[in-house]
Amino acid sequence: MKGVRTNYVVIMSSCFIFLLVYFSTPDQFVNRLRSFPFSTAKDDKATREPSLATQTPVQNQSKPSIQTPSPETPAQEQYVPSIPNTQKKETTVEEFETSNGTTEERPVIQQAGPSLEEEKEPVQEQFLPSVQVPQDDFIPEQFQPSVPIPQKQEQLVADGVKLFKKPPCDFSDMQFDLCDVEGDVRVHGKSSSVFSVTSLENYNSEANNETWSVRPHPRKYAAELMAQFREVQIKVADYAQVPNCDVIHNSAAVIFATGGFNGNYFHDFTDLIVPLFITSYQFKGEVQFLVSNAQVWFVLKYTGLLRKLSNYEILDFDKEERIHCYPRVIVGLSKHKDLIVEPSRAPNHISTVEFGHFAKMAYSLERNTTTKLGEGSAKKPRLLIMARNHSRALMNREEIVPLIEALGFEVVIGNALFSMEVGEFARLVNSADVMMGVHGAGLTNFVFLPTNAVLIQIVPLGNYERTCQYDFGEPAVDMGLQYLQYSISEEESTLTDLYPINHPVFRNPESIHRQGWQTANGIYLGKQNVRLNFTRFRPILEKTLDLLRQ
Ligand SMILES: *[C@@H]1O[C@H](CO)[C@@H](O)[C@H](O)[C@H]1NC(C)=O
Ligand SMILES: *[C@@H]1O[C@H](CO)[C@@H](O)[C@H](O)[C@H]1NC(C)=O
Ligand SMILES: *[C@@H]1O[C@H](CO)[C@@H](O)[C@H](O)[C@H]1NC(C)=O
Ligand SMILES: *[C@@H]1O[C@H](CO)[C@@H](O)[C@H](O)[C@H]1NC(C)=O
Ligand SMILES: *[C@@H]1O[C@H](CO)[C@@H](O)[C@H](O)[C@H]1NC(C)=O
Ligand SMILES: *[C@@H]1O[C@H](CO)[C@@H](O)[C@H](O)[C@H]1NC(C)=O
Repeated sequence: MKGVRTNYVVIMSSCFIFLLVYFSTPDQFVNRLRSFPFSTAKDDKATREPSLATQTPVQNQSKPSIQTPSPETPAQEQYVPSIPNTQKKETTVEEFETSNGTTEERPVIQQAGPSLEEEKEPVQEQFLPSVQVPQDDFIPEQFQPSVPIPQKQEQLVADGVKLFKKPPCDFSDMQFDLCDVEGDVRVHGKSSSVFSVTSLENYNSEANNETWSVRPHPRKYAAELMAQFREVQIKVADYAQVPNCDVIHNSAAVIFATGGFNGNYFHDFTDLIVPLFITSYQFKGEVQFLVSNAQVWFVLKYTGLLRKLSNYEILDFDKEERIHCYPRVIVGLSKHKDLIVEPSRAPNHISTVEFGHFAKMAYSLERNTTTKLGEGSAKKPRLLIMARNHSRALMNREEIVPLIEALGFEVVIGNALFSMEVGEFARLVNSADVMMGVHGAGLTNFVFLPTNAVLIQIVPLGNYERTCQYDFGEPAVDMGLQYLQYSISEEESTLTDLYPINHPVFRNPESIHRQGWQTANGIYLGKQNVRLNFTRFRPILEKTLDLLRQ
């Protein structure tokens, strides 16, 4: 029973966020797809160095090895860090939930992708046709003499029997499918194939003729959404059946797909960043990401985080024609509860606390923990109000800011808009002791708060208490934050301007929810703004001060 309930919550919480994306940006997504500039000829050269076996890690962490198209850079630099030491500094870049948020980035992305078709030809000429069935199964002989054969590969052939492991695939989880393939693993991105190689004597065509299919994105139950992702085929195959390696890696690889609900900040984190952390943190950077359904904006936007997980160039899986060989390949991403890392299920038993450290480390954020409010301390706790622009906006912000200040807070306004550089906003968030806002994707930024900080979530009308708790409350507490939730009263909702007070919107929210999440979320999340009654809200701030003193 408990499981069913949780599933319901997961689906509900994902549904409403989907709504936001769906409402605002139906075709912006489509326009963004398929413009991944990362497998340009320049990049190819990097992995095609003679010393194929020892693909060099990126030396300079501050400089992403992926070729950032230059038009992109100025766009990002417009949002120069104005880490506010001044009060009420308003940061303005747009959030994706708004329909205008992405328009600025789109032209940039269109310019960005040097047509890969043009670049591909020389690559193919220099390489042997990449999917080539070997004439015999002794791998080293397949290589050109100039290519050094790594020790590992020789062993692999000699000990093929021992090293071959049947790929453990997990199809049991409601949110994701995942195959973890070890041994001699060969990846051909363009045909979406992963070969788990075994030696001839170990190969039993009947027993080994197995194929698994994984769509490598952790939103499995959303069938329509998942249809946009290519299936990756994992096949057990004998040496005689598999293609030669074009590039041999000592690192592991993780194959995953961007897209789906990505573009909404909450989903970027809960569907990809946190699952990527769960899946790949164990490799300490020695892992390469192969991105299917690749969206350039995602990789650019989260470069800071991705670079801390992987030392290697990020490859566009769908366009990759070379055969990449790895000792281990994970197809798919593990996902636990939203924004939560469960130690019992995670490699090395990492937790949400580790994710918080990781997120802060990735952006070199200084504050690990809040400074305790001392008796005689002059320093005021900094309270960050997350501004929302369209729906669920705090209408009387100007009015309440002085009242909050009068209680002893320094108030800062932040608007985490889509095109904003994540690190910039992260620094602002990390400087705060308290973050407060109406339920919305921007609250995902709590991951950058210092430990012991207080997250205050304002819940709009419409029975969203449990969802709010699940989406942000529980993960915040799991990360070592303190959490307070405030449910507004009818008089604090602008829905009273739209509906008579005896309307089912107020009297019977369940009946509205029964009309489907699109209807319910359209009203409660799409049309509702908040006018905070400070008299009613004030105890929350007093409680916050108490918590900061402890
Ligand atoms: C690392 O990158 C920074 C910024 O791009 C640059 O100033 C610095 O010289 C680089 N260091 C090395 C060792 O390449
Ligand atoms: C939204 O974008 C369109 C086109 O870019 C622009 O004309 C319009 O003024 C924008 N609306 C707002 C509210 O910024
Ligand atoms: C593997 O299975 C497929 C489909 O079931 C079949 O067509 C193929 O011949 C089999 N291959 C071997 C080597 O058994
Ligand atoms: C913050 O915590 C991390 C992880 O525990 C640690 O490595 C780092 O040194 C700490 N930073 C500061 C400024 O205390
Ligand atoms: C929405 O954001 C724009 C740009 O940041 C700002 O000028 C405008 O005042 C905001 N609107 C509301 C209602 O906050
Ligand atoms: C604000 O809340 C207080 C305390 O609940 C209540 O007495 C007061 O009537 C509310 N103000 C308005 C304008 O509704």
